[in-house]
Amino acid sequence: MTSRDQDSGPDNAPSDYHTDRSHAPDRRRFMKGLGMSGLATASAGVGVSGAWAAGEVRRAEGDEPAEGLHRITLVVNGKRLKLDVTPNVILLDALRDHLQLTGTKKGCDHGQCGACNLHVNGSVINSCLSLAVMHDGDEITTIEGLSGEPGKLGPVQQAFLEEDAYQCGYCTSGQMMTADYVLRDENIASDDDSVREAMSGNLCRCGAYKNILAAVQSARGKV
Ligand code: FES
Ligand code: FES
Repeated sequence: MTSRDQDSGPDNAPSDYHTDRSHAPDRRRFMKGLGMSGLATASAGVGVSGAWAAGEVRRAEGDEPAEGLHRITLVVNGKRLKLDVTPNVILLDALRDHLQLTGTKKGCDHGQCGACNLHVNGSVINSCLSLAVMHDGDEITTIEGLSGEPGKLGPVQQAFLEEDAYQCGYCTSGQMMTADYVLRDENIASDDDSVREAMSGNLCRCGAYKNILAAVQSARGKV
């Protein structure tokens, strides 16, 4: 067991454990992507209404969304859902608070820990950095849909179980969503260092990195 494997939580993450975040957009890239429209959206909400300021999501009803809401369609774990949302609702909150898909966790809420990771159109993203309205028409997979079969574990989930790759479990759904992506991406090499690098956007405060790495490697070839 190396010292890196044993003791590499967010407060003492190893220096080589956080460089390639191409699949996990950082805060600066997110803010740049939002640009002026994002700023306009943010300022337009001030003083409009309490519901707007807090963000609002409703199941779509009627022909048109209510004033101030935007109708979007999300394909979540294979189910097509229409939602009416305020423009400031974060994808993570829409899924957790309004669709009750609470397997995706909110950790830092700043794009730095990976607890909120899920798949959008086959890529992995930080859902805490993404507005729900940006995903109209997108296919989203959360941990609840990772195996493709309700009530069954997929290969990555099974591997995490067998390798005891968690302690408190708070980071685990994000770890598994990233792991599944890493195992499918042919551009990510299969050696341990490459996997550590690719998983570096997922922090584990319990320091379960050694077992997480073992789980990812044991699921290789099964996803
Ligand atoms: S909660 Fe999204 S990256 Fe930490
Ligand atoms: S934070 Fe990773 S298992 Fe506790």
